[in-house]
Amino acid sequence: MINRTRRLRKTENIRRLVRENKLTIDDLIYPLFIEEGENIETEIVSMPGIKRFSLDTISKELDEVVALDIPAVLLFGIPSEKDDTGSETWNDNGIMQRAVRFIKKNYPDLYVITDVCFCEYTSHGHCGIIHDNDVDNDATLVNLAKQVISHAKAGVDMVAPSGMMDGMISTIREALDNTGFPNLPIMSYAVKYSSAFYGPFRDAADSAPTFGDRRTYQMDPSNRDEGLREATFDDQEGADILMVKPALSYLDIIRDLKNNFDRPIACYNVSGEYAMIKAAAANGWIDEERVMMEALLSMKRAGADIIITYFAKDVAKVLLKK
Ligand code: PBG
Repeated sequence: MINRTRRLRKTENIRRLVRENKLTIDDLIYPLFIEEGENIETEIVSMPGIKRFSLDTISKELDEVVALDIPAVLLFGIPSEKDDTGSETWNDNGIMQRAVRFIKKNYPDLYVITDVCFCEYTSHGHCGIIHDNDVDNDATLVNLAKQVISHAKAGVDMVAPSGMMDGMISTIREALDNTGFPNLPIMSYAVKYSSAFYGPFRDAADSAPTFGDRRTYQMDPSNRDEGLREATFDDQEGADILMVKPALSYLDIIRDLKNNFDRPIACYNVSGEYAMIKAAAANGWIDEERVMMEALLSMKRAGADIIITYFAKDVAKVLLKK
């Protein structure tokens, strides 16, 4: 036989030589939930191993992240006060701003990214200002600029807008450029679907909408071409990194972006994807470590350069042991 593909699979060393994709610690961003208050260390029931911390309890988590050599964290703030505009998001002394200052002061090398949105801060749980029972896009952009400038002043390394407002990237780019932050990069949640896989996160971040859903701003899971259109606009508006979210059910979209854009591509391995693996493993139905590594590797193979994942610490431990 001329062609026998098994010749290159015979031993681990030849498999190493022909291996096309690798998951490394360098690929990982670890999300953190930081809650206003003191002495908080609350387990999130649907996300085993993930907790909400207050600033006075978060150091041991950060020590671990740094010891495992994870390059970056993505912060989500959980404020004690919510209102209908989410005005806490642009309070220079808000939980997010204080968290950024705390981390940059105590862990100056850790790369800090903030999730830029309103849903954890609004009384109605939507990602912007409500007019006529829907999120008002352009009114929300005005507040988005205020939020991002406040994060920038606190010393964040990168901002990651996740609200799926039209024009959010150009608004943020302009706001940063005009206030002395032309070098602060933007990672856009460019192609973000209206997904049931966010369920556990909404418990974790206390951000479920009190009425309706997010289908008027997040994408329809049926659509693929539209993902390219979303990414094109964000690319043109100056997003430095383009993200696809969720990851596992959207590997085709990750590949589309990789093939079409000369920008780093990120994906978000979301809470529901994490919860499913943890739950099946807890029942003894799957091998947690192998399924975790295989799922994350599939994201690399699809074309992701960066993976945001609640598994970051677990993966780093596996990789360091090898
Ligand atoms: C919204 C936001 C969400 C997630 C990250 N940012 C949830 C949503 O759109 O409702 C989900 C993350 C996850 O499920 O892990 N600011």
